[in-house]
Amino acid sequence: MEKQGCLTNKVAVVTGAGRGLGEAIAYGLAREGAIVCPWDINQETIQKVAEKLKSDYGRTGKPGVVDVTDARAVENEINWVVKTFGSLDILIANAGILHAYDITEFPEDIWRKVIEVNLTGYFICAKYAAKVMKQQRRGVIVQINSKSGKKGSFRNSAYAASKFGGIGLTQSIALDLAPYGVRVNAVCPGNLLDSPLWQESLFDQYAKKWGISREEVRKKYIEQVPLGRPCTYQDVINVVIFLCDERSSYMTGQAINITGGQEMR
Ligand SMILES: NC(=O)c1ccc[n+]([C@@H]2O[C@H](COP(=O)([O-])OP(=O)(O)OC[C@H]3O[C@@H](n4cnc5c(N)ncnc54)[C@H](O)[C@@H]3O)[C@@H](O)[C@H]2O)c1
Repeated sequence: MEKQGCLTNKVAVVTGAGRGLGEAIAYGLAREGAIVCPWDINQETIQKVAEKLKSDYGRTGKPGVVDVTDARAVENEINWVVKTFGSLDILIANAGILHAYDITEFPEDIWRKVIEVNLTGYFICAKYAAKVMKQQRRGVIVQINSKSGKKGSFRNSAYAASKFGGIGLTQSIALDLAPYGVRVNAVCPGNLLDSPLWQESLFDQYAKKWGISREEVRKKYIEQVPLGRPCTYQDVINVVIFLCDERSSYMTGQAINITGGQEMR
């Protein structure tokens, strides 16, 4: 059944939507009635997400196998979306990667890759979305940033640098696009401890590095949060939907913390 909500018939692209937070945001927007085009570099996962969008929410835009660092692929796919659905109302720039090393051991090629996906990839998607939104004189861009976009992150310099850069980019393009009625904001989630990124990679990495168990790593991170729990997908989805909706029509260039108060510690 087609869903009705505050984003009914809005056409949305979500990058990095093959799993994790991007996948959850794709379903969150569809629950509000949006036509969601999920993109990812992983063909298999993005196909499954598209099938679930169709079966659970009634319809989906076209799934795209799109690498956000490939400007031609991004441009072509955005043109396709606009030709098919008539507009592009929402871009969620979510695709991101994390590789952590001490600065003295950080391989230059991996540093460049993190900046390329997290910062340049956001720039490329925002650029081609902005071309359409400027002409439409409406549209919303939301970048999925991180608490590491506002505070340095131990042995995680490339990720933090890419996310700090993302806030500069968000503020700057918000200025470029404000005269056209296009709004650009970022959200800065805390640790999504139940996401695949943590479950499949970070818990083991940190447990090994500090010589403690996965449970102790979890406890250590939760203790840093005044509200005493990890960030959830729904915490992020709630704010993303608000930023996509008219209720936030006087907000642009902002980077909203969703951290349970962690940045105060
Ligand atoms: N997991 C967390 O705790 C957390 C916290 C704060 C912010 N974030 C941010 O949320 C976003 C999503 O994180 P996640 O935890 O869901 O990550 P994830 O690794 O689970 O998922 C990322 C998705 O992006 C895709 N991707 C990677 N490179 C891509 C590229 N070049 N082009 C297109 N797609 C690409 C991957 O295939 C994957 O499906 C990231 O921007 C991340 O920085 C995550």
